[in-house]
Amino acid sequence: MSSGRPAQGAREPCAPWSGSRIVLGVCGGIAAYKAVQLARDLTLLGAAVDVVLTEAARNFVAPLSFEGVTGRGALVDLFAVGGAALHVTLGREADCVCVAPATADFIARAASGRASDLLTTVVVASRAPVVIAPAMNDGMYAHPRTRANLAALETRPGYHRVGPATGLLAAGEGSGPGRLADIGEIVDAVGRVLGSRGRGALAGAKVLVTGGPTREPLDAVRYLGNRSSGKTGFALARAAWLRGADVTLVTGPAAVAAPYGVEVVAVETARQMRDAVQAVIDEADAAIFAAAVADYRPGSASRGKVRRSEIGNRWELAFEANPDIAAEAVPCMKAGSVSVGFALEISDLVARAEEKLTAKGFDLIVGNLACEADAGFEADTNRVTILGRDVRARELPRMSKFAVACEILDLIEARLGAPEGGSGG
Ligand code: C5P
Repeated sequence: MSSGRPAQGAREPCAPWSGSRIVLGVCGGIAAYKAVQLARDLTLLGAAVDVVLTEAARNFVAPLSFEGVTGRGALVDLFAVGGAALHVTLGREADCVCVAPATADFIARAASGRASDLLTTVVVASRAPVVIAPAMNDGMYAHPRTRANLAALETRPGYHRVGPATGLLAAGEGSGPGRLADIGEIVDAVGRVLGSRGRGALAGAKVLVTGGPTREPLDAVRYLGNRSSGKTGFALARAAWLRGADVTLVTGPAAVAAPYGVEVVAVETARQMRDAVQAVIDEADAAIFAAAVADYRPGSASRGKVRRSEIGNRWELAFEANPDIAAEAVPCMKAGSVSVGFALEISDLVARAEEKLTAKGFDLIVGNLACEADAGFEADTNRVTILGRDVRARELPRMSKFAVACEILDLIEARLGAPEGGSGG
């Protein structure tokens, strides 16, 4: 299992989900039109997508629209000639059933185990995990029956809910909770189901990732920061979540949106990041220190705004060392866990990375050279060298940060899955 969204980066597999079967159930709500994009995205990731529409969904969107993007017949009828056992075969062969949008009516029928049309019959007949993306008017979503039905579904093993979001509803209905979740989030929720199938070593594991820059206040309006966008840490957190891990991302102010499903702890300073890491490090099965932490902070930050009229043309600052978050955290990790550090260097990459590996006690370190084109800070791609205590330096070609994350997670999984004392590397 590799990606979770169809946007592909360099060297990312074109169709990471090929071989997977997804039943996409579409119910009769205005958000049904968005399900066409969802069907397309799932198909582009390589899955065979069988769309099953409820009778009401046909009022909003035609089966032909889905056939056009999936290349497969879209289905409606439970009692079609020649399709007598369709619900059983579709359900049995599915790796995941995703219902988006799931209306209040579908949720009520699914919660009570009804099998009154093809979609609910597939759900009852299938043993595959079910991802439900509710979408409806905010009043219907708030109704106690709907809430009770959803709660009943969520307690069933293998059921996962994504959304609804809060935002603009159908025309004239204003804004509120009930809007279909973002399509990327639904794709990721399906991706996690598919990614957890093989029960790799990260499924159910606790993973801590630090990411983004830190900010050290200089006065009430200024700070000392760096150019880190947070893309590497966020890609690692998302990729680990897609493999079934419980992920905590401790991040400084980043330029990218938080990955879906991940627990985000937002911090600003290095000391806040250290405290947030220390709060969870003893539980982590794997910790990845991707944050660009300020090594120094201004010794004393002015509470007010420093003004030229007051200090003249020279602002002199003294700096104090910040804690080394990773070096403090690694010794607190439990036996059998895996730690990964990063080394951003300007020369002698392997030698310097090896030094850091030993000095900070990492199992693995990921090095890259600053000032390379299309790599490092702010870029979507990176060119890294990975080495470990018992892993010789391996130079990877330029690839998307998500693909780099997948390479790192492969090594972590190999080590977590290796017998006691084995390197797995
Ligand atoms: O800054 P340096 O090159 O030493 O960073 C190496 C590793 O240590 C990185 O993984 C970085 O996230 C981590 N680090 C840290 N706290 C610091 C400095 C670096 O956790 N104060």
